[in-house]
Amino acid sequence: MKKILSLLLAALLLLSAAAALAESELPSLREIYADKFDFGAAVPGMSASNKSRMDFCATQFVIFTPENELKPNSVLDVTASRKLAKEDETAVAVHFDAAKPLLNYAKENGLKVHGHVLVWHSQTPDAFFHEGYEVGKPLVSREVMLARLENYIKAVMEYMDENYPGVVVSWDVLNEAVNDGASNLRGSNWLKIIGQDYPARAFEYARKYAPEGTLLFYNDYNTALEPKQTGIVNLLKTLIAEGNIDGYGFQMHIDADNPSNAKIENAVKRIAALGLKLRVSELDVGIPNTSEASLAKQAQKYADVMRILDKYADQVVAVQVWGVSDNVSWRSANYPLLFDKNLKPKPAFWAVADPSAY
Ligand code: GLA
Repeated sequence: MKKILSLLLAALLLLSAAAALAESELPSLREIYADKFDFGAAVPGMSASNKSRMDFCATQFVIFTPENELKPNSVLDVTASRKLAKEDETAVAVHFDAAKPLLNYAKENGLKVHGHVLVWHSQTPDAFFHEGYEVGKPLVSREVMLARLENYIKAVMEYMDENYPGVVVSWDVLNEAVNDGASNLRGSNWLKIIGQDYPARAFEYARKYAPEGTLLFYNDYNTALEPKQTGIVNLLKTLIAEGNIDGYGFQMHIDADNPSNAKIENAVKRIAALGLKLRVSELDVGIPNTSEASLAKQAQKYADVMRILDKYADQVVAVQVWGVSDNVSWRSANYPLLFDKNLKPKPAFWAVADPSAY
């Protein structure tokens, strides 16, 4: 009996050693794509403080986007700004408490960070747009809002350059400014207060204060759909004319069967033709369940997307999935990522590692 037990134990030890070996032998996506573009992921603040999880992430990804921690509602210090506004309506106070764990990890481990996002209609405190930073008071004038925008961008850029030099290599200066189902600018306080040129002013200030070499992006979703695609192209053309934009970020929150590969490729081709740098900023591919068939369809779609991007690799600077494991995803009900809840690679991982096999 004792002998059987010790044999069993030895077998178990062997098996777990084999599993550990398999894990350490997982191909590294960041290495596979290193000579083409940066392969990365978004991580939420919670994950950024989890060292063993981040150590795993760093084997696969070279560039990280804080999922929420550099959005205006994490960065703008409304209470401190309200105090400053008593003297100067254009003053802006910022803080980076939420983003520090990821920024520190990146700095200590030689990883890159993509900043997301300076100007957005969503996840931005309403107080930003009101006199005295008081939502009960009227909206500020165009002049005050332009000055707040400039001071906000200046403060963010200067803080990063002083504390994390070289870490934040690119920014989404502007997110989701184009309307859904239309080609015009989305209604927002930015548009209402500043007017049609608010995107151009945001890029002007970002360029003015960003450290040399920082890449500045406009980022949006549903790029494959018309008439929105035309609206995005029109906006990009006005920004290109002013000379302060470097590239376009395709969010690419898609499903395994939608949009079609033809539509995705057409969108990439049309925007690439503008001569911009490209990044896929928020890639995830939804499926309804984790049946073998669904996982295979998802893997196929990831391979298709990577194959399309490969054709434009000389313009693509980064491809980032929007999360690491299915259970820590804003679309967790659709299992959209490369790793399952135990950080085990899914068929989608292998598809990204070698799209040519699909
Ligand atoms: C958009 C935004 C992201 C994030 C996702 C949902 O794509 O750009 O910042 O909020 O929605 O996680």
